[in-house]
Amino acid sequence: MHIRTPKDWELPESAVTSESLYHLSKRRDFLKALGITAVALGARQAMGATAGFPTKLNPAFHDAALKPTAYDAITSYNNFYEFGTGKDEPRELANRGWKTDPWTVEISGLVDTPIKIEVNDMIGKVGGIEQRVYRFRCVEAWSMVIPWDGFQLSKLLALAGPKADAKFVKFYTFNDPKSAPGQREGNLEYPYVEGLRLDEAMHELSFIATGIYGKPIPNQNGAPLRLVVPWKYGFKNIKSIVKIELTAKQPRGTWEAMQAREYGFYANVNPTVDHPRWSQASERVIGGGLGGRQRTLMFNGYDKQVASLYAGMDLKKFY
Ligand code: MTE
Repeated sequence: MHIRTPKDWELPESAVTSESLYHLSKRRDFLKALGITAVALGARQAMGATAGFPTKLNPAFHDAALKPTAYDAITSYNNFYEFGTGKDEPRELANRGWKTDPWTVEISGLVDTPIKIEVNDMIGKVGGIEQRVYRFRCVEAWSMVIPWDGFQLSKLLALAGPKADAKFVKFYTFNDPKSAPGQREGNLEYPYVEGLRLDEAMHELSFIATGIYGKPIPNQNGAPLRLVVPWKYGFKNIKSIVKIELTAKQPRGTWEAMQAREYGFYANVNPTVDHPRWSQASERVIGGGLGGRQRTLMFNGYDKQVASLYAGMDLKKFY
């Protein structure tokens, strides 16, 4: 297999983010000088599915101690290699004519009823959307707190009905090199794919996001729908999903296929297992100011809810 070396993913976190943050803060100063606010920028951004708004916060999935990251930071500091490897590129490049409305998702493989469904119809069929506030932890050792709008993944899978022999769920991002410069360059193997065990996917925390802060999710964050599995590293949270396939065999994600030693199938946040090239013991809080570091929590703070999924597994080995 041809292994391409991604440009900034492969660098230690300290070397990467300082530069990106530098550009980010310069851009912020520039926009501030022009009097452009996050709201004005939001209006300029292309949007995905609009069904279901406004949403209500579901208090069962909100810890009042969490301080949500600013909307501007969530939507301008992104990893979306289809639109470039720089953190500030997706906001620009994913909003230059790439269409995320209308958008159809196929659910196929080991299911009773294979379906193809438009996202706004999907939102109606799963009973609407709600807001949940989750921690978000990238494998690069930075973190945010994000108010997502969307619905529980289990409700979507129920529409198709997984068969008894389905053990895994494989997700596919769109493949459209004409719209996505990163796909034209081939900076990764495309389409981007990811997978979960079926019981992980059915867990009540596993979520499909169609919004952020009560607004349709911007293109750069994975419009019109993306996966959010808050106890796993961010790369599992695949964006702009076009296909979901139920399988008997464990799927291999894009990053795992490229470098299995560094990006495992499980990718559960674990402060005691370092990335081969940097520590995972602590994380840089985006928007937390200089010195805004905090200790990383086991399963990203969701250990009570999810530890039982991994009972009997050596979490040092299956990372
Ligand atoms: N999904 C696709 N299709 N392409 C990507 O490059 N990057 C992943 C994940 N999902 C990625 C993706 C990584 S590495 C992270 S950390 C998160 O998306 C970033 O999500 P955010 O930009 O909304 O913070």
